[in-house]
Amino acid sequence: MRILIEENYEAMSKKAALMVAGQILLKPNSVLGLATGSTPLYMYRELVRMHREEDLDFSSITTFNLDEYVGLNQDNINSYHYYMFDNLFNHVNIKKENIFIPDGMAENLYEECKRYEKLIKDRGGIDLQILGIGKNGHIGFNEPDLKFEATTHVVELDDETIKANSRFFSSIDEVPRRAISMGIKTIMHSRKIILLASGEEKAEAVKKAIFGPIIPGLPASVLQLHPDVTIILDREAAMYV
Ligand code: GLP
Repeated sequence: MRILIEENYEAMSKKAALMVAGQILLKPNSVLGLATGSTPLYMYRELVRMHREEDLDFSSITTFNLDEYVGLNQDNINSYHYYMFDNLFNHVNIKKENIFIPDGMAENLYEECKRYEKLIKDRGGIDLQILGIGKNGHIGFNEPDLKFEATTHVVELDDETIKANSRFFSSIDEVPRRAISMGIKTIMHSRKIILLASGEEKAEAVKKAIFGPIIPGLPASVLQLHPDVTIILDREAAMYV
């Protein structure tokens, strides 16, 4: 694991954006795995700026998002579809047919998981996966569990996650209870991984992910087994590192 500690959230985000831009320059037809949540927001802003001011070219890029809520349609402002178009895809020259996000409205969710997993394989796997981390150590929507869930699957969200994510909704009752998420194996098969964490509230999970035992109870701890992980932290998230 490479651990980079940056002064603040902006510096952390810029470092991550530079690494993503480097990946795109080195391999213009890269497959990127993308995350949502508040942590990568500024990184996306920076990538949009690089597209506008420095001609960063997304025309041959393919993207797969980590997860999506079950039951929110694509126009719902809280869906990860909406988030991705609003924060990145509407502002860069990526081709629509190269954008993949699990369909949380699919009639048969289990078929949707299988379809998504196959799509990732068919596109040659993920070159660079961006991850955030939940306060409980989740990655994507892989919640702490008794075993690592391998492939794309339907998840029952933890109360803690529902509470944490309720800040984006007008009431906690509106937060979906289920989601579709790439599995641990899906994530671990990515060739490179960047995990971002910002703020004091993530410090404990970050410490356990890096130094703790590798256990499904702290899903991010599995990253210790990956050969090419870069963890980019701001000072607060790195307070125990
Ligand atoms: C969400 C997402 C994750 C994200 C995490 C942290 O529930 N499913 O992909 O990394 O929680 O979110 P935030 O960056 O807003 O703290």
